[in-house]
Amino acid sequence: MGRIDKLMATMSLEEKIGQLNMVASSRVVTGPGERHDLLEGIRAGRIGNLLNLWGADETRAVQRLAVEESRLRIPLLMGLDVIHGHRTIFPVSLAEACQFAPDLWEKTARVAAEEAAEDGVAMTFAPMLDVARDPRWGRIVESPGEDPWVASQMAAAKTRGFQGRDLAARDSVAATAKHLCAYGAVTAGREYASADVSERTLHEVYLPPFAAAVAAGVAAVMPGFIDIAGAPMTSNAKLLQGWLRGVAGFDGVVISDYNAIAELINHGVAPDLVEAAALALNAGVDIDMTSGAYIGALPEALERGLVTMSAIDSSVRRVLKLKERLGLFDDPYRRGSARPRASQAAERRELAREAARAAIVLLTNRSGILPLSPETRRIAVIGPLAAAQQEMLGSWASAGRPEDAVSILDGLKAALPKCRIDHAADVDIEAESTDGISVAVDLCAGAEIVVLSLGEAAAMSGEAASRTDLGLPGRQRALAEAILDLGKPVIATLTSGRPLTLPWLFERADAVLATWFLGDEAGHAVADVLTGKFNPAGRLPVSWPRDVGQVPIFYNERPSGRPFAPGAHYSSTYLDAPPTPQFPFGHGLSYSRFALRDLRCDPTVVKAGDIVEVSVTVHNESEMDGEVTLFLFVRDPVASVARPLLELKGVQKLELDAGRRKQAKWRLPVEDLSFVGQGLERVLEPGRFEIHVGQSADPSGLLSGAIELAP
Ligand code: NOJ
Repeated sequence: MGRIDKLMATMSLEEKIGQLNMVASSRVVTGPGERHDLLEGIRAGRIGNLLNLWGADETRAVQRLAVEESRLRIPLLMGLDVIHGHRTIFPVSLAEACQFAPDLWEKTARVAAEEAAEDGVAMTFAPMLDVARDPRWGRIVESPGEDPWVASQMAAAKTRGFQGRDLAARDSVAATAKHLCAYGAVTAGREYASADVSERTLHEVYLPPFAAAVAAGVAAVMPGFIDIAGAPMTSNAKLLQGWLRGVAGFDGVVISDYNAIAELINHGVAPDLVEAAALALNAGVDIDMTSGAYIGALPEALERGLVTMSAIDSSVRRVLKLKERLGLFDDPYRRGSARPRASQAAERRELAREAARAAIVLLTNRSGILPLSPETRRIAVIGPLAAAQQEMLGSWASAGRPEDAVSILDGLKAALPKCRIDHAADVDIEAESTDGISVAVDLCAGAEIVVLSLGEAAAMSGEAASRTDLGLPGRQRALAEAILDLGKPVIATLTSGRPLTLPWLFERADAVLATWFLGDEAGHAVADVLTGKFNPAGRLPVSWPRDVGQVPIFYNERPSGRPFAPGAHYSSTYLDAPPTPQFPFGHGLSYSRFALRDLRCDPTVVKAGDIVEVSVTVHNESEMDGEVTLFLFVRDPVASVARPLLELKGVQKLELDAGRRKQAKWRLPVEDLSFVGQGLERVLEPGRFEIHVGQSADPSGLLSGAIELAP
């Protein structure tokens, strides 16, 4: 008999359900804030999993209770939201998506896993894979953006990074793909609202990233808080059992979101905790995160015949299996026993800087003001995000420390020691007072160039942070306009967790950069880009709207029967705005200038099973070395189900020295042209397919070719 069988044979019902129970801990669980019920629960085997505890000593102390003082000595599984870094804080996920760089995504997840594991953590609730097309929804900041292909690449890279080569290694943590599914489609972008998406959209847009995570071996999956058309995800047997375990072949652990099982009562599908627990368990939810429904109500559900012992056993086995895969039975203290090498701290910081600067998107550079001239002698750095060290950490700071983060002001000071840099506190991020504006204007009057640091506080995006207004909060617009009225060159940086609709700023400022929440190295990264030490390479993973009225907005729309035609009244547009975004998906300027020529597809007549080689020549026509990002899109112009105008199938980033040319090549499997057919099965239909390559999804900048799929 194996270890798990032996344990199963000796476990009481309560001990079994204890393995399905995850409880939130306060960090100082063994100190003065010690919670008696928690410690007793661990000893009694009623608590098998914890979240929100980290620290080598803290985790060891509670693990000791489980493995030395509980009857069966089953180790605890300790999870934490290690989202964009643990001790070293990297850019938020939406910013990381701007890098379009799976190798970097993997590296930052690897370091986050190492650091979390050093702190005794064995599981993270990441990657978040919700395709997000509505910036009102605050969790867009945690997302990989609007595109399912990009989200799928991120799913695989992050899973590899967190889990490493061997889940049992002392620097690996179990990854959790979340939140299955369509959370980004909540009605009107309102947090925790219902979503109502078609089966087709689920299969085309929202599920593929989860399939990619499963294919990469992700250890756990978390259903979202929401319901889809009346079926809450926490009790959605069709998707959790049918699709996730059945179709996608997932055999890991399903863990509920925080309190979500009890919230089935609020959803209106369960009258009480007993039925809520039964619904969730029968849908395949193994671990109850904090609602107490399993430990409190599963015994009664069993008595009432609402669940079977075998369903409970299956879930318990999956949890024990995960603990085994994590190596917890062999050495429950392995995480938390490694210390970082001395050189690692510096390497991690360096990676944070690399990741941060690669995430910055240069949105406009109207007068070519950037990069800053080395002759610049006097800069005013103002705006409420200029010296906002803590805000740089973003929405999930884990064990990050505000004092470790470099503000934009400090980054510029460090980068420009010969330049006079003036700064004054002016308006607050959100407050209504305009008192500081005149001081700021006076300060700017004497400067050659103004760096205006605008945006949102970290807490204005993330969970429970939806907004109806996508403009600048507080009196920041008044500040910006007063400064712009001076007529000085103005470079604006936007620290935010979502695209902000600021057409007036894009029109008036000389340059605008999306700097998101870049983590510990934010200030250095911004300075690297402004000074030209780093040639900006970030690209938008979301279409940036002009106005909140345009959302949801995304590039891979289906064609309209009356497509937008400027000036045509009966075409798909608005009376008061064009339908096009302010900046398209993939947009991002460089200090270099790239031109594309000569798109080739080889062969041009293909059959199922073939691979098409798509190539273009890219020329750096500028005098600066730089990195170009190229997007490969396809379109099936006539199909049994209308296909999107563009669908992303590949991305390439190429370093290109000034004046040089290179060929970019993709190998496109013909199977990538298949789609979800009328009966939701995958179909590959013969006929003509368009192939497009461009530097963004802007149709006017695409090079186009075609291939023919023979019947
Ligand atoms: C709620 C969030 O929705 C989820 O993403 C997170 O992992 C859990 N809380 C645990 O903190």
